Amino acid sequence: MENDIQEVLLTAEQIKAKIQELGRVLSTDYQGKNPLVICVLRGAVVFMTDLIRDMTIPLEIDFMAVSSYGNATRSSGVVRIVKDLDSSVENRHVIIVEDIIDSGLTLSYLIDVLDRRNAATVKVVSLLDKPSRRTVELYPDYCGFQIPDAFVVGYGLDYAGKYRNIPYIGILKEKVYQ
Ligand code: IMP
Ligand code: MG
Repeated sequence: MENDIQEVLLTAEQIKAKIQELGRVLSTDYQGKNPLVICVLRGAVVFMTDLIRDMTIPLEIDFMAVSSYGNATRSSGVVRIVKDLDSSVENRHVIIVEDIIDSGLTLSYLIDVLDRRNAATVKVVSLLDKPSRRTVELYPDYCGFQIPDAFVVGYGLDYAGKYRNIPYIGILKEKVYQ
C-alpha cells in the first residue's frame, strides 16, 4: 500500500491532535444536548470512533450509508441511501460526521433529509475539506483540515475499497487510478 502513496499529507500524530481539539470544542458546544452522532459509512468510521472517545459528554451514535453514482474519484450528485438510521432524529441535535467534503453534494443531500425529518439542529463535522472543488454552497460547521485538490486515502478514506486502514492520510499516486 505504501508504494501507492505519493506523499504523506497528514501524519497520525497531526490527526490525533486535531481530533482532540475537535472533541473538546464539541463537548462544550453540545453540553446537556445528548447529541446523535451520525457516521456516514464507510469512510468516516475511523474518524468517528476516535472523535467520540475525545468527547466527554453523553451522546448516542448511529450509522448511515449512502452511495453516489459516478466514477471512482468524483461524486455524481445523485445520492442514494443504502443504509438508513435506526434511530429517529426528531427533535434531536444531530452531528453528521464525514471523512471529506469534496463537491458537497453528498452532505447537502443528507442535511436536507435530516431537516425534513425534523431534527432540532443538524451540524456537520468533517475531518477534511477540499473547498476548491465545491459545486454547492456548503460549509462544515466543524472541520479538521482544509486540503488541496488531490485524491487522498488512509484513515478511513479509500480508493476502490482499499487503503482505509492506513493510519495517516496520503495523496494517492495518480497512476493508481488513471
Ligand atoms: P462530495 O459529495 O463530492 O462532497 O463527496 C464526498 C465523498 O466523496 C466523501 O464522503 C468520500 O467518500 C468521497 N471522496 C471525495 N474526495 C475523496 C478523496 O480525496 N479520497 C477519498 N474519497 C473521497
Ligand atoms: Mg464518504
